[in-house]
Amino acid sequence: MSLLGLQAFRARILHFTDMPDAVTQAGVEYFEDGVLLLENGRVKKVASAQAFADDGFDLRECEHFPEHLIMPGFIDSHVHYPQTDVIASYGNQLLDWLNQFTFPTELQFAEPEFAAIAAEQFLQLLLENGTTTAMVYTTVFAQSTEAFFSAAAKKNLRMIAGKVMMDRNAPAGLLDTPESSEHDNRQIIERWHQQGRLHYALTPRFAPTSSPEQLAVTGKLYRDYSDLYLQTHLSENHQEIAWIKQLFPNARDYLDVYDSFGLLGPRSIFGHGIHLSDVELNRLAETQSGIAFCPTSNLFLGSGLLDVARIEAAKIPLSIATDVGGGTSFSLLRTLAEAYKILQLQGQKLHPLKGLYMATLGNARALHLDSHIGNFAPGKEADFVVLNLSPTPLQLSRHKKTSCLADTLFALMTLGDEHNIARTYIMGKLAFSRSARAQGDLQWLI
Ligand code: GUN
Ligand code: ZN
Repeated sequence: MSLLGLQAFRARILHFTDMPDAVTQAGVEYFEDGVLLLENGRVKKVASAQAFADDGFDLRECEHFPEHLIMPGFIDSHVHYPQTDVIASYGNQLLDWLNQFTFPTELQFAEPEFAAIAAEQFLQLLLENGTTTAMVYTTVFAQSTEAFFSAAAKKNLRMIAGKVMMDRNAPAGLLDTPESSEHDNRQIIERWHQQGRLHYALTPRFAPTSSPEQLAVTGKLYRDYSDLYLQTHLSENHQEIAWIKQLFPNARDYLDVYDSFGLLGPRSIFGHGIHLSDVELNRLAETQSGIAFCPTSNLFLGSGLLDVARIEAAKIPLSIATDVGGGTSFSLLRTLAEAYKILQLQGQKLHPLKGLYMATLGNARALHLDSHIGNFAPGKEADFVVLNLSPTPLQLSRHKKTSCLADTLFALMTLGDEHNIARTYIMGKLAFSRSARAQGDLQWLI
C-alpha cells in the first residue's frame, strides 16, 4: 500500500523498549498477530492486529506473513569489510593470522574497482543476514573507504565506517603516515560524515600498528570534529598485550596507550577487551567507552572468553559483533549462539530476550543511534527483518515443540542463521528477499 506513503505489515512482531526483564517481560513488546504501520519509511505505529481492526483499519491492506516474525534489523558493532574472504583461514592466532592472511588480502584494496565490488558484496551479505547497520573497518586505502560509503549511500543504509590508520608493523604497501592519514581523514570526514545516514569513525587499527605520532593525530581529529566515532582493538590476545608492553614501555597498561592520546569516551568502541585489568575496567567505565563482544572471532582465533558479567558489573557499555573475518559468520543469530556458549563456560547465562535485545536496541544504544533505529518506536527509521522461524527440517521440528515465546526465541538464537532471514527492509523498502533470489529474480537488489 503506497497511498499517502503508508505501508502495513502483518506478522508476529517483536521489539524491545528497554533492556528486557526475562521474568516480568518488562522492556519486551510482542504481538502474536501484530501490524507494523509505516509512513514514508518510518514507523508510524505498532500494535496488535485486533487493535488496528478496532480502530477501523482494514487488515486486508497489510502485506501478511502469518508464520513469520518481524523484528528490527540487526546491528553489528564491529566488522571488517575487506575481510569477507579471510573467513575460515586455518591455523593461527591473532598476530600470525594478521600477517599470513589479513594483510595480504587488504593489500588488494589498493585497486579502487576491487574495493567497489567488495563493498557491494559485503553490504549484500549484511542484508542477507538481516544486518541493517554496522560499524565497519575499511582498509588503509582512502579509496576503499570512499567505495564503502558510496555503496552504503546508494543503498540508503545507516552505517558507521572509517579508514584504517596504520603507519608501522605491517607490510610497506599497507602503511600510511601521520600526515597522510590526517589529510585523508579530513577529506573523508568532510565528504561523508553525517551525510544522510552515514557516520565516520576514526579507525587506528590497534596500538601496535600506529606510531605515537599517528595516535596523537587521531586524538587531534577526535577533538576537531563533533559526533565522530572511534574504533580500534584492545586486549584481544596475550601475545598482542606483551607486544604493547615493548612498544609503549611508559604506558601503565594497554588501555592507557589510547587514554594518553585522548581516544577514550562514550563514542569510542573497543573490539574485544578480553584480558583487561581492574584498573582498565574502571577507566573504561569512568569514560563510558564501549566494548564490542565478538564471540565467533574470540573462539576462532583462540583469543579467550570475555567475562561479560564482569564488564556489565562495571557498567561498561557492551555491544555484540561478528568481527568478520576473525569472526566466522555475518549472522547475528549465530553470533548470539556462540555468545551463549562463551557465557556457559563461565557459569553465566544469555537469555534469548537479552541476546535479541543486544542485537537490536542494545547495540543501537551502545552506538548512540537509538534515536534513529533499534526498535519500532514511532518516528524511527523502518529497517526491519522478516524472519522465517523454520527454514530447515531441524528448525521446523524443534519449532513445533516450542513451549513459549522465550523457547521459540532460544531455538531461533541457537539454530538460526542467514537462512532464517526471509526479507530485509531498509526504511520500508525491500532490500533483500530470499525467495526472490532463489527464483533468480534480481529485482530485489537495491
Ligand atoms: N587486531 C588488529 N587488527 C585486527 C583484525 O583485523 N581483526 C581482529 N580480530 N583483531 C585485530
Ligand atoms: Zn576486528
